[in-house]
Formats: sequence, structure tokens, C-alpha cells
Amino acid sequence: MKTSLGWDGEAVIAVDQRALPGEYRLLRLVTVDELIGAIQSLAIRGAPALGLAGALGVALSALRRTATGNGVTEAVTADASRIAQARPTAVNLEWGVRRALGRLGDGPDAVLAEALAMIEEDTATNRAAALRAADLVLSLTERRPLRILTHCNTGRLATAAGGTALGAILELAERDCVAEVLVDETRPLLQGSRLTAWELGEAGVPYRICVDSAAAAAMARGLVDCVLVGADRIAANGDVANKIGTYGLAVAAAHHGIPFLVVAPESTWDRTLPEGSAILIEERDPAEVTHCAGTALAPVGAAVYNPAFDVTPASLITATVSEERTVSRPRTRDSGT
Ligand code: MRU
Repeated sequence: MKTSLGWDGEAVIAVDQRALPGEYRLLRLVTVDELIGAIQSLAIRGAPALGLAGALGVALSALRRTATGNGVTEAVTADASRIAQARPTAVNLEWGVRRALGRLGDGPDAVLAEALAMIEEDTATNRAAALRAADLVLSLTERRPLRILTHCNTGRLATAAGGTALGAILELAERDCVAEVLVDETRPLLQGSRLTAWELGEAGVPYRICVDSAAAAAMARGLVDCVLVGADRIAANGDVANKIGTYGLAVAAAHHGIPFLVVAPESTWDRTLPEGSAILIEERDPAEVTHCAGTALAPVGAAVYNPAFDVTPASLITATVSEERTVSRPRTRDSGT
């Protein structure tokens, strides 16, 4: 499979991101409940991939409900609503569901065609954003080759293909402009050390896994020329929800005068929300923090604060780059470039 998500004629196929880096295995999801389970357990994760999974889930529902009986529209609409609510923070999920559901009137094959078109589009979208972001990084930095810090996983696994922030990093590496990528481990589920490190290794790009709490110290020691991250939801004023820890990186980058770039598709913008404080932040199972691979790391019954995301104010972001435009700060206007 050349994309991280696909369709085999009867079921959704997805890379099981829980199994990496130990094992590259594909999931075959034949019911909406299985798809929702894959989203909630982070087998499928990353905002653009969630949008595509949402669209494929609606197609799965439309095909199965049409084959089995009456009340198709009501049943598919109810399934679509359950899929859209599987995780609350990444707006791409509800965007993908809504877009696929919009084709239901034309029949289940049209819904599937829409979902598959979205996979193709996402690949092209990421490529355009990555090229734009790579050019911008080079215009904002002087040192060559660069030392780039990134957080979570924004690569091909988190999208159909190509990646967003990691796509830009890979593009810079193609141009021989990357000395090293510092990959935040991204606790507690380690999307950085498990997935981003795996993708960089696959691409042959030099990296070091960075202890999350060492990122600010790395900036202070002059080891970081630029920070590149993705996004799960961007409010109308440019505030960005992304993986927990992103806000702290932005504060540290601003303190050290290091460019801090967000790379995300237009579908990640939520203009219905005026600012980031209105973004619903997912809180996840305490066991993700208190346990590692089944082994307890904390006292039994320890209380836990485990938000999956935080919000970075637009004022801390040097630029937010999509396939269409670059929104630069501290200027608050859309540069349109
Ligand atoms: O909880 P996750 O792993 O789905 O969180 C993912 C992130 O925060 C990513 O940075 C974001 O979705 C962008 S992926 C291109």
C-alpha cells in the first residue's frame, strides 16, 4: 500500500501505528465499530489521517447499510456522528466525515469515491505545504545545514502520504540542508520516538531522540535552528491546538528567538472558533501515564492529568503554512504568499 490508509474493495486498510517501530502491520477494518476502536486506540492517528479515516468510515457504513436494508440515510448519519466524535480535538475528523456524508445522496459508491479522492488530494496537499514550508525555513534561518526540532509525528503515517511538518523536514533533507533532527520523544505515547524516528530512519535522515523535558535546554545550548510542528485544530485567530508539549516548545523558541513554524492543511483550520481557548482538549486514560507496556510506573490509584493536546497562542508562532498560504506572525494579516 503506497498510502497509510486505503480500501481493499470491502474494508478499510490502515497501517497499525500502535505496532511500530517493532512491526509494520496492516489492519483490515470491516465494521464502523472496528474503525472507531482503531481511532480511539491511536492505531490510526494524526489529524489528516483521522480525516481520511472518517471519510472511509462513512463509506464503509454506506456500503454495509445499503447492502443490508432500510433506513440507510438515518443509519449512516448516526454512524457518521459516532465516527466524528471518536476523538474531539482534531477538526479534520469531523471535516472528513462531513465531506463524505455530503455524497450519500448519490449512493454508497459516490461516498467511497469521495473518500478515495480525499486520499489522493491529501498527498498533493502535503507536498504543496511541505515545499512552501521548506522555502520559508530557508528564508528564516542562516545556518547550513540546519538542526531542526520536531514534536509528535507529522509524517506519512499521520497523513495519507508525505506528511506535513515532517514532510517539510524531509524536503529540506532532500535539498541537503539538514544536519540533524531532534525528535521529541512525545510522552506519554511516544509518537516521536516510535514513529517519527522510524520515518526518519527509513528516509536516512540523521536524528536524535530528545527527552521531552530537554527541548528547552537544547535551544538554550544553541542546538536548534528551527522548530517545525503540525496541528490538530487552528482557531480563526491562528491559535493552534497540537500534541501536548507544543505550547512549551513555542514559549522556549520565542525566548531564544528561534523560528517556530506550524505546517498543516487548510482542513485543520476551524473558523467557527474565534480563538484557541474554545478548542476542546481530549483527556486520555490515566493508564497511559501510570503504566508502560503493562508495568506500573506510579503508585496504585495515583491521580493523573493527561491532556493529549495543548493550545499555542498565535503570538508565539512565527508562521503557519498550508498548501495555499503562509500566515506570518507577529504580523496578524494573511501574507497570502
Ligand atoms: O494524538 P495524536 O498522535 O493523534 O496527535 C497528533 C498530533 O498532535 C499531530 O502533531 C497532528 O495531528 C498533526 S499530524 C500531521
